[in-house]
Amino acid sequence: MITISKLTYSFGRQLALKDVNFCMKQGEFVFLCGPSGAGKTTFMRILHGALPVQRGKVDVAGYDLNTLPEGRKHLLRRDVSVVFQDFKILTNQTVFANVALPLKVRGIARHIIEKRVRAVLRSLHLDQKALSLCEELSGGEQQRVAVARAVVVKPKLLLADEPTGNLDHELSMRMMDIFQQFHKFGTSIMIATHNREIMERMAGARVVTLHDGTMHEGCVEPGGDL
Ligand SMILES: Nc1ncnc2c1ncn2[C@@H]1O[C@H](COP(=O)(O)OP(=O)(O)OP(=O)(O)O)[C@@H](O)[C@H]1O
Ligand SMILES: [Mg+2]
Repeated sequence: MITISKLTYSFGRQLALKDVNFCMKQGEFVFLCGPSGAGKTTFMRILHGALPVQRGKVDVAGYDLNTLPEGRKHLLRRDVSVVFQDFKILTNQTVFANVALPLKVRGIARHIIEKRVRAVLRSLHLDQKALSLCEELSGGEQQRVAVARAVVVKPKLLLADEPTGNLDHELSMRMMDIFQQFHKFGTSIMIATHNREIMERMAGARVVTLHDGTMHEGCVEPGGDL
């Protein structure tokens, strides 16, 4: 699903990723850990083509990101869904409209959109809010809208950047159950997180750690701060 070799990325003089090598098989579930500023968001942004590959080789869901032209990135994004750290939902639109949008873009029939959106909203306990404007929602509710919008298209790969950052314990656990369900149906999932509880919920999942832009397999400081 993902093959990366010697990926290096810098913002001007600030080096964000250093010589990262990483492979993820289809159907894998990976937690991406590391302290604030370690490069997690930068890594994910490269994976869905929001940042260019400056150095190294990156292949995601069968697309060679070294050569994929800007005009074909929408194809990559059909297979790779993202839950952004800052949500990026349309706050002046309803919950339903936000979640329906990626299905509309794909030209899916209205009655199917209705059914799929309702089902996803139900599973995230957002059905009562379907017709609310997103700007009227709490942070945790907005976060769940962002997750609903990402999973409704049944992507091959789901990248979620701190998807439980605004959720309490119970909602975080519920969110993990939803990710787990999608994982069972075959979606490959990568979650960037600081939250140990959600990692413990998925005992046996692979963990990789970014530290100062360098990637390591496993939890680098077991028991310590991530
Ligand atoms: N647009 C940008 N311009 C300049 N530097 C940036 C930019 N985005 C990120 N950086 C720098 O790159 C490094 C990695 O940032 P990144 O956002 O990837 O970290 P992160 O692991 O996602 O952190 P957090 O856990 O706080 O979300 C940091 O040093 C950050 O300051
Ligand atoms: Mg981040």
